[in-house]
Amino acid sequence: MKRVKVLVIGAGVVGLSTAVCIAETLVCCSVTIIAEKFSPDTTSDGAAGILFASEFPDVPLGRQQRWFKETIDHLLAIAHSPHASDAGVFLCSGCQIFKEVPCDKKPFWSDFVLGFRNMTHQEMKRFPDHKFGQTFTTIKCECVRYLPWLEKRFREAGGQIRCEKITGLQKAAQMYDVIVNCSGLGSRLLAKDEEVYPIRGQILKVDAPWLKNFIRDGDGKTYIYPGMGYVTLGGTRQADDWRLEVDEEDGDGIMERCSQLEPSLRKAQVIGRWVGLRPGRTNPRVEREYLYAEGRRVPLVHNYGHGGWGITLSWGTALDALDLVRQSLFEKPPQARL
Ligand SMILES: Cc1cc2nc3c(=O)[nH]c(=O)nc-3n(C[C@H](O)[C@H](O)[C@H](O)COP(=O)(O)OP(=O)(O)OC[C@H]3O[C@@H](n4cnc5c(N)ncnc54)[C@H](O)[C@@H]3O)c2cc1C
Ligand SMILES: *[C@@H]1O[C@H](CO)[C@@H](O)[C@H](O)[C@H]1NC(C)=O
Ligand SMILES: *[C@@H]1O[C@H](CO)[C@@H](O)[C@H](O)[C@H]1NC(C)=O
Repeated sequence: MKRVKVLVIGAGVVGLSTAVCIAETLVCCSVTIIAEKFSPDTTSDGAAGILFASEFPDVPLGRQQRWFKETIDHLLAIAHSPHASDAGVFLCSGCQIFKEVPCDKKPFWSDFVLGFRNMTHQEMKRFPDHKFGQTFTTIKCECVRYLPWLEKRFREAGGQIRCEKITGLQKAAQMYDVIVNCSGLGSRLLAKDEEVYPIRGQILKVDAPWLKNFIRDGDGKTYIYPGMGYVTLGGTRQADDWRLEVDEEDGDGIMERCSQLEPSLRKAQVIGRWVGLRPGRTNPRVEREYLYAEGRRVPLVHNYGHGGWGITLSWGTALDALDLVRQSLFEKPPQARL
């Protein structure tokens, strides 16, 4: 019997991953997703979806490692299954190069990607402006395919989906027993969380099918990510910039910087431009609190603020959110507020 009603807010990669984890694991729950936007219109859809991360300052390193490892292990299993093409998940090899040798020469996730090593002098000759490089194989997860694939998996587990904008939690708290908040940047209004801010990212989509390997400058501002239908060129990281319009100058700058790394790109045709707002936050928020509504105490699990690494950390943080939901089911029944 499905007696516990769970609401998940958000249908980006974080919301859908969380909803699938709950619906497939907690058989006593009936799970509903409510979101204003669905694929292909979420921030997640435009992201290159490369698995990669920088370190958050205040989350214990072991927890960040677990988030990364659980996500890449989950996606590697898909990449090696017959679902790979439907799900838009595949292996991708390439390099990260640095103009100066970085302090952190071995990122915390280097043991979870495949074949991580320093580049040789021979390999670095291709990049005369750069001094140091790392090469490895990781996953690319294209959300334009992955999100509809997760959505199907969610429905098969009995999940329900509604398209709606939530303006306050009070009404939802009367209708659901547990609420999970995966609203990304929407959390700023919804959770009144002023710590969440936009980090604007613009990209170009180009036709350059001869490129097979990714190249990323370690400063995070220039990257070339070949994908299934096009190559993503980036990018920008503009904090507190809410503009969703394409900026011509940003586009020219991206093309120039990428062509310096990979001169053959000067011949590539631009087939699309896109802007997304990353849900920036000093640290992602994966924790639980309670809402009080008309004498009911409703657990509210937060899972948002993944910044530039929402796909990289999606499955790991979804498993943490699942644990928080599970814990709240085994607690005392909801009490009236005193
Ligand atoms: C240019 C660019 C490149 C990127 N590249 C990568 C990359 O290579 N790897 C990586 O890991 N990450 C990357 N990212 C970051 C990644 O896109 C985000 O971290 C991720 O998409 C966040 O997912 P999310 O589910 O939290 O948010 P979103 O995808 O924004 O989803 C939020 C959901 O919440 C819903 N919502 C919000 N408010 C409300 C409301 N009030 N009522 C109802 N629904 C609501 C929305 O409609 C939507 O469904 C990139 C981002 C950009 C912009
Ligand atoms: C990689 O290069 C860095 C910087 O030169 C060095 O400190 C490190 O030991 C190298 N790692 C390996 C495995 O050679
Ligand atoms: C989602 O989280 C944000 C940030 O904490 C909060 O303001 C908002 O009320 C939450 N929404 C729901 C439905 O819990």
